[in-house]
Amino acid sequence: MKYLIKNATVVNENSQKVADILIQDDIIVKIDLDISDAQAQVIDASEKYVFPGVIDDQVHFREPGLTHKGNIETESRAAVAGGITTFMEQPNTNPQTTTIEKLEEKFAMGAKSSFANYSFLFGGTNDNLEELKKLDKNACSGVKLFLGSSTGNMLVDREEVIEDIFRNTEMVISAHCEDETTIKNNLAAYKEKYGDDIPMESHPLIRSAEACYLSSSKAIDLAKKTGARFHVFHLSTGIETALFSNDIPLKDKKITAEVCLHHLWFSDEDYKTKGSLIKWNPAVKTATDRAQLWEAFLDGRIDVLATDHAPHTIEEKDNVYTKAPSGGPLVQHALPAMLEKYHEGVISLEKIVEKMCHNPAILFEIEKRGYVREGYFADLVIADLNTPWTVTKENIAYKCGWSPFEGTTFKSEISHTFVNGHLAYENGNFSEKKNAKRLTFNR
Ligand code: DOR
Repeated sequence: MKYLIKNATVVNENSQKVADILIQDDIIVKIDLDISDAQAQVIDASEKYVFPGVIDDQVHFREPGLTHKGNIETESRAAVAGGITTFMEQPNTNPQTTTIEKLEEKFAMGAKSSFANYSFLFGGTNDNLEELKKLDKNACSGVKLFLGSSTGNMLVDREEVIEDIFRNTEMVISAHCEDETTIKNNLAAYKEKYGDDIPMESHPLIRSAEACYLSSSKAIDLAKKTGARFHVFHLSTGIETALFSNDIPLKDKKITAEVCLHHLWFSDEDYKTKGSLIKWNPAVKTATDRAQLWEAFLDGRIDVLATDHAPHTIEEKDNVYTKAPSGGPLVQHALPAMLEKYHEGVISLEKIVEKMCHNPAILFEIEKRGYVREGYFADLVIADLNTPWTVTKENIAYKCGWSPFEGTTFKSEISHTFVNGHLAYENGNFSEKKNAKRLTFNR
């Protein structure tokens, strides 16, 4: 099968160039001006932009065990509609991904069900270090530690164990950082005052900036002491941005950071209207935190953008504070939302591509993805930046059927998504063929 994308503005490696792209089977075989190929199916992308497929380094697709919220098939389908062609899925499923056997079972599920390229993170716990030591460094994306508790009871809180994991892991260790004791004490104080029906806007005061900083700064100190390769997931506070640097290239950094779409988009002013729909761990914090996150994101202290896509049913969300779970679905809307920030003049297209495509590939040392390059896998997104559309129940692809963006109009639409040279999504229509691959790494 061959495709020829004509007259696209290709956004790649810090530049924009008009070019044609020839795809054969699963590979980009040629990028040039005026390519012709009589056997290829032509897609005219004049007036449109081509990006490398987005790589999302943090999603929760809920399979196995929590599939009433979502599964690999439904959520990867939604991802492809949002231009995400590769995802790294988290270990807080049921059973948890904390043994090599469970990890390989997940890979088998990915092979059977996924529309997007897949890899998984292996969950470190208080008692699986011996298993972790057996894990091949090229087997999966890396190791995930919940240094603060969230959905799925995976808290790792024994300091000597955390140090052993840091000393014994060659792969990137990614972590959820929130200090458990601080959160427990804050929650107890709010429960004393309100019972279970705590106002939703208290969430960032319970899961406070202090809790985030205490945990992430301590973990970074340990990473420096042990020489571990450490990646802090979903930064949510301004104060933590000072823990990261931008003075060396990403490929040489030992300490890196991710920010998620919701922490760049929402602020605590939105709890009034959105309530539990924007309840996440770590919490969405103040507009000042958001501005400081943007600054660090743009100046290179924060390396990648992800979604932390974490669906829950609307019935689960529609509960009082203490019973409403944290997390929300985002994969379908992350790229359109970032393109909205481009329209607002906040970020360039080149920077969006750097943070959502190139940098996750560099950070996790993914083989042949994340760029529009000859010889690379043909994971590509075509976007029309001037076709406004509104997020409604009818066009939401998540199994949970809701989005915190419902009612939002985005100016940019994803018109085509290629996964390994296969046209997986085209103008609102999905291909039923699955052409995804397990990620491979260059480590
Ligand atoms: O809000 C969150 N929900 N944060 C996480 O880290 C986990 C996620 C989930 O799995 O529900």
